[in-house]
Amino acid sequence: MYAQRVLSGMRPTGALHLGHYHGVLKNWARLQAEYPCLFFVADWHALTTHYDEVHVIGQNTREMVIDWLAAGIDPAKAVLFVQSRVPQHAELHLLLSMMAPLSWLERVPTYKDQQEKLSEKDLTTYGFLGYPLLQAADILIYRAQHVPVGEDQVPHVEFTREVARRFNHLYGKETSYEEKALEAVKRLGSNGARRYRELRDRYQETGGAAALAAGRALLAEAASLAQSDRERLYGYLEGGGKIILVEPQALLTASSRMPGLDGQKMSKSYGNTIALREDAKSVEKKIRTMPTDPARVRRNDPGNPDKCPVWELHQVYSDDATRAWARAGCTSAGIGCIECKQPVIKAVLREQVPMQERAQKYIDAPGLVSDILEAGRVKATALAEETMREVRDAMGLGGA
Ligand code: TRP
Ligand code: SF4
Repeated sequence: MYAQRVLSGMRPTGALHLGHYHGVLKNWARLQAEYPCLFFVADWHALTTHYDEVHVIGQNTREMVIDWLAAGIDPAKAVLFVQSRVPQHAELHLLLSMMAPLSWLERVPTYKDQQEKLSEKDLTTYGFLGYPLLQAADILIYRAQHVPVGEDQVPHVEFTREVARRFNHLYGKETSYEEKALEAVKRLGSNGARRYRELRDRYQETGGAAALAAGRALLAEAASLAQSDRERLYGYLEGGGKIILVEPQALLTASSRMPGLDGQKMSKSYGNTIALREDAKSVEKKIRTMPTDPARVRRNDPGNPDKCPVWELHQVYSDDATRAWARAGCTSAGIGCIECKQPVIKAVLREQVPMQERAQKYIDAPGLVSDILEAGRVKATALAEETMREVRDAMGLGGA
């Protein structure tokens, strides 16, 4: 339909760790080569749970964006920005709140889960209930089709689709829709109009996916068409009303579970992380003191790699030959644990070198990060404003 667009956001938690790198950022870096991408810092979302810790948001934002850049997110390819600098997100959130059923929000699984998990905090707030709706606004305002997220965020994308559907149903039916659609068909030119009618008839009669796809392609390529006419014709092709907000798809990251220093998933809350730009000495120390197979007490006790968190890091960082060496050495007590950890230490440090280098440039010249975010703000605002004009019109706010 619209140009394929990818959007994702992250709350500003400060310096990221290797779990973020392997789980999220490598994926973003791959996507930026294939699609127009928008990546943003969800600072308003941070406030929904951390409304009492506001002083860290600015610093956390900066650290996190430097980590994105360090990981290879390229501002020449992707648009990077901060959510709160594009107030249109808040405007859309407000407008969607008029029609979003309360029961849908209460049913989102993260609502109750997080309230229980963060029980030391009072999350019975209006803003926290609205978390998924704000996320829906983030996504819908850019008409993003693909939203790369982890498993835990899938219900939010599903909720977003429901909100878009309800919105289009309520506001996509403008008065004299049929006449306006027929007028718009004429604007395709005589050949284009004939082809569009053929494809529409074929799709409506047979439900053929090929006809629908061809019809959409025709509209996507019709350069002369105004945005509002294009929306009418997308909707008219399918037999419904105007499609103002596009339903997104979650793009599930192939779950690469990054093990932490203790064998659990790497996570700040478990205190088992290695930072993306951790200094070499500290990386070495953390891995050297990592727990191993608890049954391997003495150097000449054989060990079992399957009970060892270091072995899990070998899965991520070592080639087959190194893994075979480690397994054989462990089970025969041929190598000691410190020896076994060396290749992992080396591989982690090697991975971090280019990241440290890229980051240094932004640490030395802090203005660069602000410039990138400002350029991103300008681009994101233009896209967001385009959608908001349609949304305001559709909701009767187009002016007297
Ligand atoms: N809720 C997401 C998280 O916690 C962050 C987020 C906010 C987001 N808005 C978004 C992710 C829009 C994808 C798209 O990870
Ligand atoms: Fe773990 Fe390696 Fe020690 Fe075996 S030798 S227990 S795999 S660190």
